[in-house]
Amino acid sequence: MSFAQGILKGKSAIVTGGATGIGAFIVRKLGALGANVGIVSRKEENLVAAVKGFKESDGIDVAWRTGDVRDPEGIKKAFDQLAGDIGGIDILVCNAAGNFICPTEDLSWNGWRTVIEIDLNGTFNCCQAALMHLKAATDGGRIISISTTQADFGWPGAAHAGAAKSGIQNLMKTLAAEWGGYGIRANWISPGPIEGTEGVDRLIIQQGLSDEVLKRVPLGTFGQGEDISNAVVYLSSDTGRYVSGAGLVVDGGSQWARGR
Ligand code: HXC
Repeated sequence: MSFAQGILKGKSAIVTGGATGIGAFIVRKLGALGANVGIVSRKEENLVAAVKGFKESDGIDVAWRTGDVRDPEGIKKAFDQLAGDIGGIDILVCNAAGNFICPTEDLSWNGWRTVIEIDLNGTFNCCQAALMHLKAATDGGRIISISTTQADFGWPGAAHAGAAKSGIQNLMKTLAAEWGGYGIRANWISPGPIEGTEGVDRLIIQQGLSDEVLKRVPLGTFGQGEDISNAVVYLSSDTGRYVSGAGLVVDGGSQWARGR
């Protein structure tokens, strides 16, 4: 099942962290449905390899710039250049994130600060950097941040990421209120465990937690990248035009089965 072909034709989208993981699934889907897509991340080698893959396996041309979401000036420059390449910014997907498991009592100040800076401050930086372009979007700009249901419950072992993602959700609510007058919609998606992503590989599979995690997924499987990219398309296209300041949970029902 998919959306109508060309549903995003004429739209331009930037996906931060779009070279790998959930970001790459989103890029493929937006590109396949007709959007012009640009990606930003820190490592040039990841960007170059990803863009080659998008072209070879999906036939999609994707523009890229290096940039660290923690650097407001660098991100503004990268976004302005990408907007020139892809014809503006109608859709901003704030996907870049950093995370590692560490009990809070052992977490260094720098470890805490690093994740807050990438996830929360990085999202703020990207929203501000894209604002001028989003205001100019013909059918209303869209901001979609990738969060997690853990932000609603607390995240033992990842206090930094849990706090940052909670902050992101609140930021989306505020931007929905402040920037709605510019036609901009600001929403977030909370993915459950998605197969083929670094998060699931490093934080679940490599920790030997697969069976335990799957026990708490009522639908019984890890999610697929397409489950998240379809949610992004819903929120980025005309289908989601009256949705703003909202979270869309895509987790197979896991958030309600935490005690199992
Ligand atoms: C304890 C750690 C640590 C670890 C880093 N630190 N990893 N502390 N345990 N495993 C500490 C370091 O010791 C240092 O503190 C501080 O964090 C900064 O580390 P750096 O390596 O210098 O930072 P940097 O190079 O900027 O790397 C950022 C990073 C890294 C977040 C630490 O992991 C990264 O770049 N990740 C990007 C990709 C990523 O994490 N993706 C997964 C997102 S998944 P000190 O005090 O020593 O100086 C996700 C959702 C998961 O978010 C959902 C699962 C269901």
